[in-house]
Amino acid sequence: PTVGVIVVAAGSGTRLGRSHPKAFVHLQGRTLLEHALLGVFGMSEAVQVIVVAPEDRVGEARAVAADASAAREALGPVSVVAGGTTRQQSVDRGLAALDAEVEIVLVHDAARALTPSDLCDRVVAAVRATGAGVIPGLAVVDTIKRVDASDLILDTVDRAELSAVQTPQGFPRAVLVAAHDTLADEATDDAALVAAAGHAVRVIEGSPLAFKITTPNDLERAGLLLAPAPG
Ligand code: C5P
Repeated sequence: PTVGVIVVAAGSGTRLGRSHPKAFVHLQGRTLLEHALLGVFGMSEAVQVIVVAPEDRVGEARAVAADASAAREALGPVSVVAGGTTRQQSVDRGLAALDAEVEIVLVHDAARALTPSDLCDRVVAAVRATGAGVIPGLAVVDTIKRVDASDLILDTVDRAELSAVQTPQGFPRAVLVAAHDTLADEATDDAALVAAAGHAVRVIEGSPLAFKITTPNDLERAGLLLAPAPG
């Protein structure tokens, strides 16, 4: 395949308040990682999938990946590698496992477990069309305040200039690898690194279903979205 999808699942997810890592928390009978993989395996083209798992859960992640590909036949190769202590290190480990023929790389958070396959396809299509970085984002609907250390409001940020961004984030492979190799600063997403390296990154319309499961409330909401409609 010429497209690689790195699914990072090596975080501890302490804000979820569970004893085991977030990607291995269950939701309606499947782990968050399995839900995320079902979305990726539903893409319209064959892709190489690399799961980045906590060091002590590589075997478990292999079993989860096998279950997901049995449920929704994966069209391309799937592998599991161990992650690092930061998200960025985990992405680096994933990049190192890409097959030689991969030209476009998507980096996806397992925590965005309900991300639709269609969003992954749209990111790939937009990277192909533009030759540049593409990330999904949603308009911000809340009024956003800048606040100081004592919670006093300083000003209101113009929300027309804001986008709440999601994953999968897609890039030409060479651009993403170069940005990861040259920038040591810690960033919370890949687009920040690629932009800091001087490359254009565009936002396309994201999906409300691609929200990141971070808090117990997010997990509850995801459960409601997956539950069969009453009646
Ligand atoms: O912590 P946060 O919610 O920003 O993590 C986003 C994603 O990055 C999660 O899917 C998490 O598993 C992953 N991650 C990782 N390795 C780390 C930290 C986070 O793969 N060391």
